[in-house]
Amino acid sequence: MARVTPGTRNNFTQCLAGGQSRPRHAWQTGAIAMQNAGQYGRIPDSVKGGSALRRGVTRRPPAAERFGFPRMNLRSRETSLLMAEVLDVAESREVTMPTAYGFARYGGTDVQEVLDLDRPTPGAGELLVAVRAAGVNPMDWKIREGYLAAGVPLARPVALGREVAGVVEEVGQDVDGFSVHDEVLGTVAPGSGGFAEYALVTASAAAKKPPQVSFTDAAALPIAAGTAYDAIGQLELREGESLLINGIGGGVGVAAAQLARDLGVFVLGTGSEEKRELTEALGATLVPYGDGVADRVREIMPNGVDAILDLVGGDALRSVADLVSDRSRLLTTTDPDAAADVGGGGVERDGRGAVLAEIVALVADGKLDPHVSDVVPLDRAAEALASVETGHARGKVVISVP
Ligand SMILES: NC(=O)c1ccc[n+]([C@@H]2O[C@H](COP(=O)([O-])OP(=O)(O)OC[C@H]3O[C@@H](n4cnc5c(N)ncnc54)[C@H](OP(=O)(O)O)[C@@H]3O)[C@@H](O)[C@H]2O)c1
Repeated sequence: MARVTPGTRNNFTQCLAGGQSRPRHAWQTGAIAMQNAGQYGRIPDSVKGGSALRRGVTRRPPAAERFGFPRMNLRSRETSLLMAEVLDVAESREVTMPTAYGFARYGGTDVQEVLDLDRPTPGAGELLVAVRAAGVNPMDWKIREGYLAAGVPLARPVALGREVAGVVEEVGQDVDGFSVHDEVLGTVAPGSGGFAEYALVTASAAAKKPPQVSFTDAAALPIAAGTAYDAIGQLELREGESLLINGIGGGVGVAAAQLARDLGVFVLGTGSEEKRELTEALGATLVPYGDGVADRVREIMPNGVDAILDLVGGDALRSVADLVSDRSRLLTTTDPDAAADVGGGGVERDGRGAVLAEIVALVADGKLDPHVSDVVPLDRAAEALASVETGHARGKVVISVP
């Protein structure tokens, strides 16, 4: 049976630069990880052995299903029975479960599991947040797969999820501007995770939540809307210009469309037909993707577009690149390699709490809607992540934490 050794330190990347759907070159996993080297940090010394016990189980005991186990490999009948017993004991003692949902080794969905994590202690520059909601992002499954593992080995179980909203329970040293009971949103600290009752949040990447913004909407902002905000700024869009968003229907796309539209930019977006209604509600024009996508854009914009924000990468990026003549105005969040091939570049993340405060203020003012399409409780975290891992999410998926 695998054992968990508490107290060891582990570098684990915080922001994990997004990355394309699947890294196409070995250097990308390492390079992305190294890009984030300054953001590595500590995993809380807080893991109990219970989760390691569960990893040995194979069949789905009924209770395990309720706690979101996606798939397990039977190692022994004894282990299975023990697992069922542990869960039954937990239930009979009215233990609140799960405390977190994450993984302890890299791999597919079968490595995801319920974790019993103690309440962590905030380090310098960190906030301990009682999580009310956590955003789900493609980056979560990319982290689980280990695509960003080079240089950041996983040494202990860690919760999934990189963005949360909740209530501050403790304030670490060297933190200004936050107090216990503040309602906040932010990116989780290195080594922490958001699909959990408690998360450590990097204070410099956090903002106070205005009361009129729900925890659900707030949790959807730090990564997707934050990336959209940075991208729209870096594209230096001006009123009257046109922007093509490649992959408009997901978390980044819906936010970018609204931000560009409000600058007076004409926004087109590639997406499937299922995204037409959403796209039009954003004030944008849907262009179905697939063969001939560039021709379909030219039917609307004969001279091409002024800028492209790519959220898909690979051939989908290459197939629209010729639509923009100034390639410095082609930016990607996901495939810097393909963007560089066609003369474009990558979106640079800011990530400061001050920027997040501007973004959440837009939501409070009714100028930005993260379009949360699904709110899923923590005990169904596997479903929430699966719906994003398909690559066809609609707006944002958020996990609610009771
Ligand atoms: N660098 C960073 O800091 C950073 C931050 C955030 C995100 N990212 C990356 O940026 C990408 C997008 O993130 P996201 O949160 O918006 O993802 P998401 O919410 O999962 O949405 C992905 C969207 O892409 C669309 N799509 C799939 N294949 C497409 C194609 N061939 N052409 C056009 N659209 C297509 C899907 O819509 P359909 O149903 O219409 O197919 C879906 O709505 C991800 O790779 C993510 O990892 C990077």
